Amino acid sequence: MGPSQTHPSGASRRLDKHAVVITPYRDGPLLVRGPIELVDSTGRRIESTRDPVALCRCGKSRLRPFCDGTHKLVRFRTGVPGEADGP
Ligand code: FES
Repeated sequence: MGPSQTHPSGASRRLDKHAVVITPYRDGPLLVRGPIELVDSTGRRIESTRDPVALCRCGKSRLRPFCDGTHKLVRFRTGVPGEADGP
């Protein structure tokens, strides 16, 4: 196993440098950290220079699949306990 990094949440567990970490934010997007390739439903690559990548899960972003903050305007609620506070 190669070098590792500290978990983005600050937890003491260590991750492989190639690990992809997906963090669901309370009432907000899925934050994706790590090396990913994002493709649309036809398999075409979606370019992004963002790191981490925030993926919309409220369905209201004008930049889907990326989050543009609209979830706050529409007061999107996940109602799922254990999620991280928003970015
Ligand atoms: S989750 Fe942020 S705009 Fe949808």
